Amino acid sequence: MFAASDLKDRKNELFKFALLWAFLLSLFVFITNIQRNTKIEVNSTRQRFLSEGLEYCKTKDQIPKMLNTNERKTNPRYELFANGHSDGFPSYTIIKNGLIIDGDGSTSEHKMDIFIRQGLVHSVMRSGSASSTQLEDYLNSKNAITSRIDANNHYITPGLVEMHSHIGICSQPELKGNNDMFETMSPVTPFTRTIDAFNIGDPAIQLASDSGVTAALILPSANLISGEGYVFKMMVPPSNSVEEMLVQYEDTGLKQRWMKMACGENPKRRYKTRPEAPKSRMGLGHLFRHTMDRAKVLKNAQDAWCDSVLQDKEMPTTAFPLDDELNMLVDLMRGKVLSNAHCYETYDIETLLRHAKEYQIEINALHHSLDAYLIPKIIKDQPYNITLATFASQWGFKKEAFQASVFAPKILEKNNLSVVLTTDHPALPQQSLLSQAQVAHHYGLSAEKAIASITGEAAKGLKLDDRFGYLRKGYDADVVIWSDHPLQMGAKPLKVFIDGVPAVDLPIVAKSELALAPKSIPEFTDEEIYKRELENSSTVLFTGVTASYDTSIGKLPNSEPWELFIANGTIVCFQSDCSELYSTNQKIPKIHLEDGHISPMLTTLTPSHGLNEMNLESSTGDGILMEAMDDGQLGDFRIPDNIPIANDGLQFGSVHLIRAFATGIGNIITPPARGEGKMFMAGVSTAFKSNSDDFSSVLKGEVALHITIGDMGKQVFVPTISSQISTLRTVLIKNRNEDNFYGRAARNELPLAIHTNNKDVMLHLLRLKQELGIYIIIVGGIESHLLATELAANNVPVVVSPWQCQRKYWDERRCLTGLAGQGSLLSSLVKAGVKTGLSSDDDTKVRLLLHDSGLAASLAGISKNEIIKMISTNMEEIFNLTVSKSPSLIISEGFPLAYGSRIAALIDGGTLFKVYPDLEPAIDLYS
Ligand SMILES: *[C@@H]1O[C@H](CO)[C@@H](O)[C@H](O)[C@H]1NC(C)=O
Ligand SMILES: *[C@@H]1O[C@H](CO)[C@@H](O)[C@H](O)[C@H]1NC(C)=O
Ligand SMILES: *[C@@H]1O[C@H](CO)[C@@H](O)[C@H](O)[C@H]1NC(C)=O
Ligand SMILES: *[C@@H]1O[C@H](CO)[C@@H](O)[C@H](O)[C@H]1NC(C)=O
Ligand SMILES: *[C@@H]1O[C@H](CO)[C@@H](O)[C@H](O)[C@H]1NC(C)=O
Repeated sequence: MFAASDLKDRKNELFKFALLWAFLLSLFVFITNIQRNTKIEVNSTRQRFLSEGLEYCKTKDQIPKMLNTNERKTNPRYELFANGHSDGFPSYTIIKNGLIIDGDGSTSEHKMDIFIRQGLVHSVMRSGSASSTQLEDYLNSKNAITSRIDANNHYITPGLVEMHSHIGICSQPELKGNNDMFETMSPVTPFTRTIDAFNIGDPAIQLASDSGVTAALILPSANLISGEGYVFKMMVPPSNSVEEMLVQYEDTGLKQRWMKMACGENPKRRYKTRPEAPKSRMGLGHLFRHTMDRAKVLKNAQDAWCDSVLQDKEMPTTAFPLDDELNMLVDLMRGKVLSNAHCYETYDIETLLRHAKEYQIEINALHHSLDAYLIPKIIKDQPYNITLATFASQWGFKKEAFQASVFAPKILEKNNLSVVLTTDHPALPQQSLLSQAQVAHHYGLSAEKAIASITGEAAKGLKLDDRFGYLRKGYDADVVIWSDHPLQMGAKPLKVFIDGVPAVDLPIVAKSELALAPKSIPEFTDEEIYKRELENSSTVLFTGVTASYDTSIGKLPNSEPWELFIANGTIVCFQSDCSELYSTNQKIPKIHLEDGHISPMLTTLTPSHGLNEMNLESSTGDGILMEAMDDGQLGDFRIPDNIPIANDGLQFGSVHLIRAFATGIGNIITPPARGEGKMFMAGVSTAFKSNSDDFSSVLKGEVALHITIGDMGKQVFVPTISSQISTLRTVLIKNRNEDNFYGRAARNELPLAIHTNNKDVMLHLLRLKQELGIYIIIVGGIESHLLATELAANNVPVVVSPWQCQRKYWDERRCLTGLAGQGSLLSSLVKAGVKTGLSSDDDTKVRLLLHDSGLAASLAGISKNEIIKMISTNMEEIFNLTVSKSPSLIISEGFPLAYGSRIAALIDGGTLFKVYPDLEPAIDLYS
C-alpha cells in the first residue's frame, strides 16, 4: 500500500514537473512574442514620427511662391459661379473703350479694351487696334462673346483692395449673437483664426462690393498677438461656403498667411479686470518677448529634430515638435506668415521694430500707424520694406490718435514709403474706402499713389499682387467701371466684376468729357502767408468772386467775376465793380481770389466739441456722462434739477475748436457729452462760436433738451422703448406749468432734440407730438426716409447724423446705401420737403464737415445750395438759433465742399478772423 502510494506520489510529481515545464515553455514563448510585437510597434511609431516629421522638415522654411500670371489659365472662383456655363469653348466678356487706371495709379493714354475669360483678365489692348479688332472678330466668329460692355470713356480700375477690415466677424447689425471680433481669453491668442467666425450673412459684404471693394483682409482685433487673418473676395458664392470666399481657396502648395498684432492702448485697455494680464506697455513688452521666447524654443526644437533625423540619421524617438499655441509664431519667425501690427504712437512702433529685430522677424505692415509720418527714417532704416496701412483723416479721439495729421500720407509718400489706406470697418464704413483715397489726395498724396493705395499697393501689402490689384493679363478679373474719375467726389461704381462675375450692373451713359483727377490743395505761397497780416481788420476788398451761396448777400447775376467790399465790418458793395467806393483810398487791403466762392459760416451739432478734447480721456475736459452713470453717481433725470447743461462745462479754445473754425465751422451746438454707452437723458445743449476764448462766444446757453429713444436710450429707470416714451410723456405733462426744462419743452419754448434712428420710434414720436403739441427735432434719423412724407407733414425736421449707411445697430438696419442704384437718405428727405440738417455723430469728422457733406451731396445728387443750407442756415432754423446777422462768411477758392478747394478767408461778424488759415495750426497745449 505504502509502495503503491509512493509510486502514485512519484507519478504525481512527474506530472507536476512536466506541467511546470510546459507552463515555463509557454511563458517563454509568450514573452518572446510580446517582445517581438512591441519591437514592431515601436518601430512603426518611430516610422510615423519620421515620415510625418520629414514632411515638416522639407517645408518648414519654405515660403509661399508668387503665381506666374502668364501661366494662369483659369480662375477656380469663377467656376463656382459659372454653373456649368464654361463648358466647351470658354466665354468672354469684353469691356470696350475705357480709360484704365492701373494698380500703380498710372492712367492709360488711350482708350482700352479688356477681354475677360474664365474669371481672369485675358488681355488688355488699345481700343480699335488691329490686335483688339482681330481678337474680337475671331471670338465673334466662334460665338464666344457672352457679354459686351461699352465703357464709353469711363474710368476703369482694378477692384479696390481693403487691407484692414472686420467684415464678417463683426456682422451688421451688431448683435451679441454675431459679434466675434474680440477674443478676450488672453492678450495672446496667435492660435485664433477669423475664418472660424466669418459670417457670410453679413450685409456689409455686399455693401463692400457695391462700393467697388472686391477683396479684404479680415483681421481679428485688439490682442497683443491677436491671431490669424484671411483674405476674402467680397462676394458670397451660390454654395454659401465661407471657404469658397477665400482668395486662395483652391491653391495647392503653400498659401500666404497673415497675422495680426497690436501695440499700445488697445491691448493695454482690454484686460483691466484681469490681474494676470499686462496693464502697461512694459507689461505688454514683457509678454511679447516671453511669448516669442517660447516660440523660439519650439522653433529650435524643430530645427534640432530635423538636424538629428536628416544629418545624424537618428531614428526619432519623439514626434516633430508642434504646439498649437505657438505654431503661428514659429511660422512668423520662419518668414512664412506676414505680420500686420496695429500701432499708433512713434514709440510703440519703435518698440515693435526693436522686438522684430530681437526675434529676427519682419513687420510686414504697420496698421493705423497715424504717427509713422513723424519717424520716416526709423521705418526706412529697417532691412525690409514696411507697408503703412493707415487712415486719411482719423484724429483726436484718444491719446494715440491725437498727433495725427491729414498730411501724413503725403509726407510718407515724399519719403518713398508705401502708403495703403484702409477703413478698419466697422470703425469707418466699408464703402468709405474710396473716399479715404480721395481725402488723402486732397491733402497732397499724389493721384497715382492715392489710387495705388487702395489697389496695387494694398495687393502688394498682402503679397497677393500676383493675383489682383492690377488689370493685367492673368490677373483675377476684379474690375470696376466708375461713374467719374474715382478721385472725384461722388464717383460710384457702375459695374463691378469679381473674378469675372458681375456684382454691380448699372447702365453706363455716354460721357463726352472726361474728368481728370481733382487737384490737391496747393501749399500757401509766401504772398498768401504775408496776407495773414490782414487778420483782425474789418475792411477788405475781395476780387474774383464767381459764386455765392450766402442768400443774405445776394446772388451773382452772371458769370463775370465780382467784387466783394467789406468796409468797417459791413458789406458795402457786392457787384462786378466796386471801384467807385474804394478808388479814392489806395490803401484798401485786397485779396484776389481764383474762382472765389462765398458761403455762410457753418453751424453744426457735435457730440462733444467744446467739452472734451479726447473722448477716451475724460480728464481732458468736462467728462463723459456715461462714466459717471456707471458709477451710479448720476441723479434721477425725472427730477428736472438733475438735467445737465453743456453750457456749464464749456472749455474754450480747444484744439478741436481751433481746427473746426479753421475749416469754416463757426457755430457749434453741443449737448453734454454722453459717450458711447446707452443713455436716455443727455441734457441741454449750448450753442457757441468756435473761435472765442470766453463766454462772449456763447450764442445761446440753452438750445435744446436732448433725449435718446430707442436701444441706445435703454438706461436705468427706462430700460425699454415703451418706458422711454411713457416717461417722456409723463415728465412733459407733469411739468407743463413748471419753470424747468421739461416745462419749457412742453410749452414749446425749448426744442426737444430726440436722438433716434429707428423708423418705428419716429412713428411713436409723431404720435406724441400730435398728442402734446411739442416741437421735436429728430437727430440721427438714419431710417427717416421710411417716414419722410409724415415727417414733412408734421413739420418735424431731421438732423441726419451721420449720412452714411452703416447698419451698425438694429435701429438703423434699414438705411439706404445710395450705391448700386439704391436711393439715398438725403435725397428722399429733400424730395419729401423735410427740413433737413446734416452733422456728424463723430467728433473726429467734425473738421471734415465741408468735404464730408460735399460727398454726401454728390452721392445723393442734391444741389449745392441745398447742401450748404443743410450745414448752415437749416441748422440754425431747426435749433431755433439767431446767429448774428453781421457777415460771417467762408471765402474760398473753388466750391468749398469740393476736393481741391481751399479757404482763403474766414470772416466773423465782419472781421477778417483768419486769412489763408493753416488747417492744422501748430498748437501749444501748455500755454
Ligand atoms: C523695397 O522697396 C523698394 C522700392 O519699392 C524695392 O526696390 C526693394 O526691392 C524692396 N526691398 C525689399 C527687401 O523687398
Ligand atoms: C525718394 O525717391 C526718389 C526717386 O528714387 C529720390 O529722388 C528721393 O531722394 C527719395 N526721397 C527720399 C526722402 O528718400
Ligand atoms: C489778431 O488778434 C489776435 C487776438 O487778439 C492776435 O493774437 C493776433 O496776433 C492778431 N493778428 C494780427 C495779424 O494782428
Ligand atoms: C471806416 O470808419 C472810419 C471811421 O468811422 C471812416 O473814417 C472810414 O472811412 C471808414 N472806412 C471805410 C472804408 O468806409
Ligand atoms: C424759438 O425762439 C423764439 C424766440 O427766441 C421763442 O419765442 C420760441 O419759443 C422758440 N421756440 C422753441 C420751440 O423753442
